[in-house]
Amino acid sequence: MTARHANGYDIETCNSLKQRFLDQKLHRPIRVGRYDAGTRLTYEITGISRPHKAQVHLEIEKFIGGGFAGQVYKVKVLDIETKDGPIEGIEKNGIYAVKIMIPPSGFSRFFRNLVYRIGFQGPFQLQVNPTAVRTGALWQKFIRRGAKIRFGDESAVNDIHATFVDSALGSCGEISDWVEGRTWRLEVDEWMDLLKQFKHGKLEYHENLGSPEYRAKKKFMADFVKLLHDMGAYEVARQYEWSTCKSQPNCLKRKENENDPVGSLVAIDFRAGLALLPFLPMSPGDIVLIFKGMVRGSLVQFDRGSLKKLEEFIETYKKEFMDMLPALEELKAGEKVYRDSVPDITHHHVRLLYSGKLWATMLKSLRVGWRVQDRVDNRAEQALNKSAVLTLLFAFLGILPFLGSFIRRLCAHAGWRSHYLHMATRWTYLKRSLRGKCIEKAIAWNRAERMNSRKAEKIAGSFTRYLLHLPLSILPAGLHRFFTDKEYFKERLFFLFIRPIKLYFSASLREEWLRDMLVQGQKKQMLTAEDAQKITSQLNEPFIQKYLKSLAVHLSTIVATEIGSIIIAGIYALAHPGTSFGEAAAISLGLMVFFQFTLFPLGPWCGGFTLYSW
Ligand SMILES: Nc1ncnc2c1ncn2[C@@H]1O[C@H](COP(=O)(O)OP(=O)(O)O)[C@@H](O)[C@H]1O
Ligand SMILES: [Mg+2]
Repeated sequence: MTARHANGYDIETCNSLKQRFLDQKLHRPIRVGRYDAGTRLTYEITGISRPHKAQVHLEIEKFIGGGFAGQVYKVKVLDIETKDGPIEGIEKNGIYAVKIMIPPSGFSRFFRNLVYRIGFQGPFQLQVNPTAVRTGALWQKFIRRGAKIRFGDESAVNDIHATFVDSALGSCGEISDWVEGRTWRLEVDEWMDLLKQFKHGKLEYHENLGSPEYRAKKKFMADFVKLLHDMGAYEVARQYEWSTCKSQPNCLKRKENENDPVGSLVAIDFRAGLALLPFLPMSPGDIVLIFKGMVRGSLVQFDRGSLKKLEEFIETYKKEFMDMLPALEELKAGEKVYRDSVPDITHHHVRLLYSGKLWATMLKSLRVGWRVQDRVDNRAEQALNKSAVLTLLFAFLGILPFLGSFIRRLCAHAGWRSHYLHMATRWTYLKRSLRGKCIEKAIAWNRAERMNSRKAEKIAGSFTRYLLHLPLSILPAGLHRFFTDKEYFKERLFFLFIRPIKLYFSASLREEWLRDMLVQGQKKQMLTAEDAQKITSQLNEPFIQKYLKSLAVHLSTIVATEIGSIIIAGIYALAHPGTSFGEAAAISLGLMVFFQFTLFPLGPWCGGFTLYSW
């Protein structure tokens, strides 16, 4: 059987394409966006409780997803080799969560790094600076102990065991416990007015007060934010502020306690992705947070905490923290290095003008970061270590687009240097390197479902096809596929255009449609079984039928702009015999872009017309 990822792309094709890339025997490393299920990896990890090293062999069980902070996997530890004793918490055959601090999507990576660069004038530290990741992990350990004190249960904070560097992805990462849980269960609540009173603190208890899971999670997160503030982890608390509307997936409910709406909640995500810039709030809640940050003297927020406040907390509960005092010393030293690794004008202010120590740390961390990202080899690293001027020059090259990275590779990475030299002097190598490029892109496009495996294999073997697809790759994946895959094109057209018409005219199809919606609704807990039954019993009432017909018309208007563009392109193709599928697709694409930019979409007009005619 073909191994398939949950999204439907073909892992076997990706693996065979990867092998084809390796067969080209290029002198440069393969670009890896992310790993597929089944991939085996070996890392040198460093424990958190005791900072010693071990070799760990993992197998990826599942790619969970990737936001701005990085990519998350469920993994199994196949084996672990240590010289200095076990790494606390990591066992052979155990299942863990691995988070590698580099987003799989190019756009997310670009946006995250840009926001960070504006805020701190340096590279994203959690990705490139092992000390930053360790510091984050140590904070998490302290917070876990804090949770034990405050809530009587340290399992309210997910445990973290080790950090590592992945040089294929060019990023730091961490290993923590895998939580068998879920994010959210929708609850039917017919007493929203009571819930509103409860939220505003006007009601403590009422027998009809609903949404117990929602209320429990909201309270847990509020209590947790309070704990984080009491421990000085002000900015990490952003990860759990309800009002940001992005924080809820950072808190899971363990499956073991599935049927009890209260309890078994666990905080799992302590690594922020986006820096919070004072002029760029990403949600209404951020505006309040920006203001509070300013009051604390933190204009740009990421994950800065107050060690003074943490020490006060530790002092209050000294007995409970006895065994963690060495970790506190490591945290203090780590924080110093981490915070001094970037210019961070809004925190360092004038220190940037006089502190030689600050500059020395910054330059050192830059070099470490280049090594983590495999931008420099051993020899170049040694040369850079010896010269601050060279380091600055190398950093400056990073600002120049294209040319800068070309010169960097030529000077500082033996593999890339040899790759470029061979390309320039050997025709067969040049051909192989172009093939390698096509294969690499074919893997990425297949994974993103921009194309099916058959097409990806064709692109891997044809530079012309690769060039034709390249401009389309700036489009969202669905559109790219829509314009280049005839089957998909037809399927989507049917779904967007023919299906609503069929639904409009066929009562039996409408019935099937509604039944399916009812099943889905029940599955997502949006609908009780009684409600579903009631709706089913009313299926043939004229009002329900009229409602469904209106819904079908609504469906067709949503995509009217796209459909209009395609119809116009179709008419053009009919009027000009000989127009190819590609040309017609290009015309409809052009029209869609035109409608977007002229703010003249057809959909709302149809919507208005429908409303008027009903
Ligand atoms: N330790 C874990 N155990 C189980 N699921 C996890 C774990 N860590 C992350 N996940 C899942 O992956 C999702 C994203 O992880 P998270 O660490 O919040 O990354 P980000 O918010 O940066 O994308 C979570 O919402 C959760 O569903
Ligand atoms: Mg998260």
